[in-house]
Amino acid sequence: MIIAIDGPAASGKSTAAIGVAKCLGITYLDTGAMYRAVTFGLIDNNIGFRDSLNIEKFLEKIEIKFSESPSGLLLALNGRDITKEIRSKIVTDNVSEVSALKSVRKSMVLIQRKMGEADDCVLEGRDIGTVVFPNAEFKFFLIADEKARAERRLKDLKNIGEQSSIENVMIDLINRDHKDSTRMHSPLKKSDDAIIIDTSDLEINEVIDKIVNIVNYKGH
Ligand code: CDP
Repeated sequence: MIIAIDGPAASGKSTAAIGVAKCLGITYLDTGAMYRAVTFGLIDNNIGFRDSLNIEKFLEKIEIKFSESPSGLLLALNGRDITKEIRSKIVTDNVSEVSALKSVRKSMVLIQRKMGEADDCVLEGRDIGTVVFPNAEFKFFLIADEKARAERRLKDLKNIGEQSSIENVMIDLINRDHKDSTRMHSPLKKSDDAIIIDTSDLEINEVIDKIVNIVNYKGH
């Protein structure tokens, strides 16, 4: 069973997807973290975003591993833990450009399909219901107003010790959504058959319950 959760930046996808996966006892895959890992890897290896030859070489050997820990999900890129680094400003500022590259998308989608096919899985991202798993049994598209999204993201950043302001966070979210929605390959887009959930005024548990109830009602 595949549950696809897509939506714009900071719409509450990660927290909802983690909760749904826990509730149903199935695997969780944060595809945004994978694009962040590639972005970090390119910057760290001084590979320019237009250097297609070296990007291809980097992607051929890439190894992305998720593992659980008491403090949450850890992500390792080629054996190095980069859980914290992928949330840094430099990665956030560049991830939309990197995730628009065709070679990057091709390689990540292959990995995501492999991971998703191995087990029942909740995948969250931008193109899960449209491109990665267009035949997913369940598709959700989470939205929230800009103020709610900016407030949530500011809180996340404070928790990891990154300084910002509500204005800067809002500008980042709007810019990223614009880039993600207008790119040529796999843009952020609601799948026609996805259920929209507006999370602006919902507590996280209410979002999780809504999704779990729909999945349980339809049976799986
Ligand atoms: O958590 P947040 O909403 O800030 O974003 P994320 O899920 O970590 O995704 C970071 C970026 O990765 C997005 O802004 C997209 O550019 C890209 N992304 C994508 O292109 N396709 C996906 N399936 C997931 C993320």
